[in-house]
Amino acid sequence: MKILVAETISEKGIEKLMNEGMTVDVNTKLSREELLKVIGEYDAIIVRSVTKINEEFYRRATKLKVVGRAGNGVDNIDMEGATKRGIIVVNTPESNVVSAAEHTIGLLISSCRNIPQAHARLGKRVWDRSNLKGVELLNKTVGIVGLGRIGSLVATRLKAFGMNVVAYDPYISDARFKKYGVEKKENLEELMKEADFITVHTPKTEETMGMIGKDQFRVAKKGVRVVNCARGGIIDEQALEEALKEKIVASAGIDVLVGEPNPTSPLLDFDNVIITPHLGADTVEAQDNVGITVAQEVISALRGEMVPNA
Ligand code: MLT
Repeated sequence: MKILVAETISEKGIEKLMNEGMTVDVNTKLSREELLKVIGEYDAIIVRSVTKINEEFYRRATKLKVVGRAGNGVDNIDMEGATKRGIIVVNTPESNVVSAAEHTIGLLISSCRNIPQAHARLGKRVWDRSNLKGVELLNKTVGIVGLGRIGSLVATRLKAFGMNVVAYDPYISDARFKKYGVEKKENLEELMKEADFITVHTPKTEETMGMIGKDQFRVAKKGVRVVNCARGGIIDEQALEEALKEKIVASAGIDVLVGEPNPTSPLLDFDNVIITPHLGADTVEAQDNVGITVAQEVISALRGEMVPNA
């Protein structure tokens, strides 16, 4: 069986594929045209979030049996198209959640304490102690939008900082809110009105894209601080820009942007916005977990065995 690894996964994952007798081509630099040209040779492909697995792709992937998503979100994969053709899609929903939650906390604290800005000034040999005053987390309210795997890990960690944690998630049971000691908000507006910090942890769907937009910022507390470590556009980027200009939003920590890779986002022009290039899952531990898990799932799927995350 021939597998194309089209985005970077850990060496351990690649070793696993090879040790199980698979023929593995690692080629993470293919242009779209090159990918479409070669994909007809492969039984499986492993991707992260950049490669678009869509109708155009499936038409050329005539031998494809399995798509391995090394990570959680499957928003770059046309699931219906896969089902129609009997192609199995597997992902690794548990493997990188701790890293994503920890990166969220990193962005939240870095943005509300101006840590990257302070470092950048010192890099220019400027010792600035008077223009970088931050805020504490203690006794502040954080509103978590999406109390799934990552949102609940974020909740637990922020409670340790003495924050009052509220969340909005219409798909989560009351028992789960109770389990995490999180106050349930019946609608987003309620959360927006109360939160000093807002962090989003939903998948990217038609329902969630732009769910925090102009109308939501209109009811937000003046000086709210936001974090998006989920998917670009869940917090509408234009609405965020306006809210920053109007000083409704005091700071933002962002790991994901619309149209990634997007190193020219206008959000980069704001001194109170810090942005990382989709690094939420980029830790040694998460990438080893993800690589090994996706490799095992792809092998099992190709052999017609049971796959937990298909
Ligand atoms: C995920 O969906 O798991 C993350 O965005 C990380 C990634 O794409 O690798």
